[in-house]
This record gives sequence, C-alpha cells and structure tokens, in this order.
Amino acid sequence: MKGIVLAGGTGTRLRPLTNLINKHLLPVGKYPMIHYSIQKLKNLGITDIILVTGKQSAKLYMKYLGSGEEHGVRMTYCMQEKPGGIAQALLLAEEHVQIGEKMLVLLGDNLFHDSLKEEVSYFKQSGDGALVMLKKVADPRRYGVPVFQKEDAKRIAYIEEKPVKPQSSYSVTGIYMYDDKVFDVIREIKPSGRGELEITDVNNVYARSGKLTYGELEGWWIDAGTHESLYEATRMIWEEEDTWRS
Ligand code: G1P
Repeated sequence: MKGIVLAGGTGTRLRPLTNLINKHLLPVGKYPMIHYSIQKLKNLGITDIILVTGKQSAKLYMKYLGSGEEHGVRMTYCMQEKPGGIAQALLLAEEHVQIGEKMLVLLGDNLFHDSLKEEVSYFKQSGDGALVMLKKVADPRRYGVPVFQKEDAKRIAYIEEKPVKPQSSYSVTGIYMYDDKVFDVIREIKPSGRGELEITDVNNVYARSGKLTYGELEGWWIDAGTHESLYEATRMIWEEEDTWRS
C-alpha cells in the first residue's frame, strides 16, 4: 500500500503565517505539521510515501524529510504547479502507484489520534472501492457530510460538501483509502464552481456505484486549517503522548 500526503494549497485562513511558509510546515508542538502524517504512515508499516506539494516551501520539505531515510520511510515528491484542488493533487501521484496497488491518502493538515490499523487492514483485504474516515462533530457545516444508504448503513449514499443543512452529524475527514481506479475517476470529474477538482466529487463517483464504505475515528481529530484549530492541534498533540515531547 502506498501512502500519499497532500500538502499543497495556499492556506489562506492561516495568513499571515502562510505568507511566509506553507501551512503543513507550521509548528505543531515540537515538529512541523507534516511530521505527524509521515509518522502515522510509518507506524502503519506504509513506508513508501508520496508527498504532493506546491512551489511554496518545496525546498524546506526536502530539507526536513530528504530521502526519508532519517524518518524510516522512502519519500517521493510531486509538484502541484498551481492550486487545482485536492483531487488534482492526488492525480499527480499516479505515475508512482503500481497497477492494483491501494493507497492511503492523508490531507497533511488533518491531525488525529487513531492509528487506523484496523481500517487499513480491512481495506487491504476488501475488494475494489474506497473508504473514508468519519468523525462526529458539533458543527459539520465546515466539512464534507455523509448521507448514509438506507438499504445498507455500512455504505455512504453520497457526500454533501459544506452543506447549509447537514443531513448527519458526521464530517468526512481528510483520511481516504482508494483502489487504483481512483485516477480514472479523477479524470472523469469536472472542475467545481471554484475551478478545482474536488475530492468530494471523486468520493461521490464511488458512492454512486455503491463502493464507498467508511470507518469512524474514535479519538480526537482536527483539521488544522485555521488559527484556532492550529492552536487546538498543538494543545492536543502536547497533551497526548510523551513520544511527541521527548
Ligand atoms: C476538505 C474536503 C472536505 C473535508 C475536509 C477535511 O475541505 O473538501 O470534504 O471534510 O477537507 O479536512 P477543506 O478543508 O479543504 O475546505
């Protein structure tokens, strides 16, 4: 299984910090944000990792992660020339994924407690399709929100992106698992109103064909895309484990 970390974007909600440096390099506790995604993948035994990032701070990512050797992984880098959406960033990784190989995709600004061990081993054994990790949240309107199938509650019927009236109290987190068909799916979708290839549109292609399942995060989860949530992420990481501090 390949690990893919998406770490591009402009980080507008984290200005002025992101005028200077890419969001996923901002400090969270002792480490830059990107460190935690790499560690999660490594702890799952996923050591072949593709990092997709933009021009801003590209050299700094390489300075920190290098070949990956120091971190116990093997790094490959892809460059997203200009922001074109999460799905467009994922498509850039295609040439590094083998035919038939599945992948775990993490948005680099999603920080969380769960190890994902069970879900990853379930997804590895299951047939083709996709799996998204969900988290119950107080206000899902900021996120993708799943609507469950009536016939089979283990599957998602469709996802609404940032709905005004959410139909469930779950958010779709930035933790996704895909089969190798995902690249064909990305080529199939059209840019959204804001001109980007949206990951929710990709997930909805799987959902429509009854192939989108989900897991639920038990521990804390933070999308560290705003100043408040970045502060909260720092606090959670700091409190969580000695390993991040020592
Ligand atoms: C993206 C996805 C959204 C998801 C969120 C999780 O939104 O489009 O479905 O819930 O990540 O972090 P963004 O944070 O890029 O607006």
